[in-house]
Amino acid sequence: LHTTTKLNNGVEMPRLGLGVWKTDNTTAKQSVIDALKHGYRMIDVAKQYGNEAGTGEGIKEGLDAIGLNRKDLFVTTKIFNGDQGYDSTLHAFEGQLKRLQLSYVDLLLIHWPVDGKYIDTWRAMEKLYHDGKVRAIGVSNFNNERMDNLLAHANVTPAINQMEFNPLGQDADIVKHDGHLGVQVEAWSPLGGGASLSNPTINKLAEKYGKSAAQIILRWDWQRGIVTIPKSTHEKRIVENSDIFDFELSDEDVETINKLDEDKRTLTYDMFAWHNPKGAPDDVDKWDD
Ligand code: A2P
Repeated sequence: LHTTTKLNNGVEMPRLGLGVWKTDNTTAKQSVIDALKHGYRMIDVAKQYGNEAGTGEGIKEGLDAIGLNRKDLFVTTKIFNGDQGYDSTLHAFEGQLKRLQLSYVDLLLIHWPVDGKYIDTWRAMEKLYHDGKVRAIGVSNFNNERMDNLLAHANVTPAINQMEFNPLGQDADIVKHDGHLGVQVEAWSPLGGGASLSNPTINKLAEKYGKSAAQIILRWDWQRGIVTIPKSTHEKRIVENSDIFDFELSDEDVETINKLDEDKRTLTYDMFAWHNPKGAPDDVDKWDD
């Protein structure tokens, strides 16, 4: 669980962490404390989730409870669509650090590629990187075209592209392209928001290996070299999702899961990557202190 992957700037990132999307502050806090207690060393949050404050409290209390320091933990957050642009990114990030009660984050991502703005956002993130406020910078939900466009303007190559990635939606083209570029792929919704868990093939494999469907999927991520951040608010599942190191999928079974790809997505660029995304009103004050 503490195994890391070396990002393209040399920073070590744990390969499995806790995601806190779709949880309120109180629940996020408790999930983070539970995860830290059970050995997780990486937490993925975003301003857009509206729970950076609870996550920050969880980090503080969780680290105290297990006697570890900030440097023992890898924290990711993301720039909200409504904050994109140079000055607004720098300003918003200060508020995010305050909410998280942190002096730096390990990884800062562009949450969605807001066209016409993501290059300026990236420049601001390069400044934060050079100023030592973030240890690595990356993107999320970038297709190959936008990735190439960003690279044409960037001084720092993104360390990460965080994508929706699960057995039913594998974005094979992006995984391949990012691999060539040295950009580590990270899976959001690795369990397909729960949908992949009921897939019959996954369940057959679960029976074969004597593990749960979630464990089969997360082990597949692991063997594919994809960093993964399953979300659960249940302590028992948080433990279950990290218990994937006592078995190995055969190459054949990895391939069987590879073949389940239906190019399924729950969110698309068109639904989300605009200035005022549905479900996340452009009401930045709501989250700012
Ligand atoms: P819950 O938080 O109630 O445990 P994803 O990370 O792919 O978005 O999937 C998260 C969804 O899967 C959540 O609804 C979460 O619910 C559920 N989930 C997480 N871990 C498990 C597990 N081990 N078994 C079953 N469901 C799980």
